[in-house]
Amino acid sequence: MLLKGKIAIVTGAARGTGAAICRRFIDEGATVVVTDVLSEEGRTQAEELGPQASFASLDVTNETQWTSVVNDILATHGRIDLLVNNAGILHIGSIVETSMETFRRVVDVNASGAFAGIAAVTPSMTALGGGSIINIASIDALHGMNGLSAYTASKWAMRGLTHAAALELGRSGIRVNTVCPAGGNPGMYGPWGAQLMELGSATTSYGANRAIPREASTDEIARVAVFLASDLAAMVTGADIPVDGGHLAGDYIEGFDRLSKDS
Ligand SMILES: NC(=O)c1ccc[n+]([C@@H]2O[C@H](COP(=O)([O-])OP(=O)(O)OC[C@H]3O[C@@H](n4cnc5c(N)ncnc54)[C@H](O)[C@@H]3O)[C@@H](O)[C@H]2O)c1
Repeated sequence: MLLKGKIAIVTGAARGTGAAICRRFIDEGATVVVTDVLSEEGRTQAEELGPQASFASLDVTNETQWTSVVNDILATHGRIDLLVNNAGILHIGSIVETSMETFRRVVDVNASGAFAGIAAVTPSMTALGGGSIINIASIDALHGMNGLSAYTASKWAMRGLTHAAALELGRSGIRVNTVCPAGGNPGMYGPWGAQLMELGSATTSYGANRAIPREASTDEIARVAVFLASDLAAMVTGADIPVDGGHLAGDYIEGFDRLSKDS
């Protein structure tokens, strides 16, 4: 019961990583407000999560909706202890073929949405004496990849925002950290799924040289979010925590450690 009595908002939580975070938070004693633009799925998700969950419709790019959701939670629960900025969208495409409109939309949801969330909860968290804000970024916030210019830029922006917010809010008792997963809901690749299959080994070999050569599950990401939300992480702020199976540690080369000077 690491989060007993805590009140949490999780964005983009109708499915995938956000839903897994809600499940883990509830298991640890928190009360969770599931938010998403997908109202039907979000409501169903909250019902499945049980009495410690409720649903609120929230487009993270809409400041008015943020104000209304935060005010409703404060009216009902009196406090907000935890915010998980998890909502995100992906775009895959070359720089030349990515329109400015698409670039702006990806940055708007992934980075501006997190900014709006931090701004919306900061006054009540400050009055409460503290809180924990967790930004779900990506391994793409720590390195670059071709075909992902908009997404990568948005996730680096989210990580920069995390560092600035951690410094600004630390003295108010608010910790701000980034989780950087390699993995999550494969459904996020939806529109590109078939094309990725066509690329064959070029995509299946991605991650094969990791220390742990697979993608993180949504629950493995959620467990790190629980740690950051809890008092176990009382001295952790402004950190970027990869949940990437050692992807960024370097490359595993099969057999290299079996070479011997005698052979
Ligand atoms: N899937 C992966 O491989 C992967 C890898 C690294 C990081 N991530 C990140 O993890 C987070 C969760 O993604 P996921 O894997 O669960 O994918 P997902 O597509 O299942 O979840 C994203 C959720 O965000 C919601 N959303 C989109 N735009 C929104 C908006 N404007 N306002 C509110 N909600 C909105 C969607 O409706 C969806 O429920 C995202 O930030 C994503 O970038 C995912």
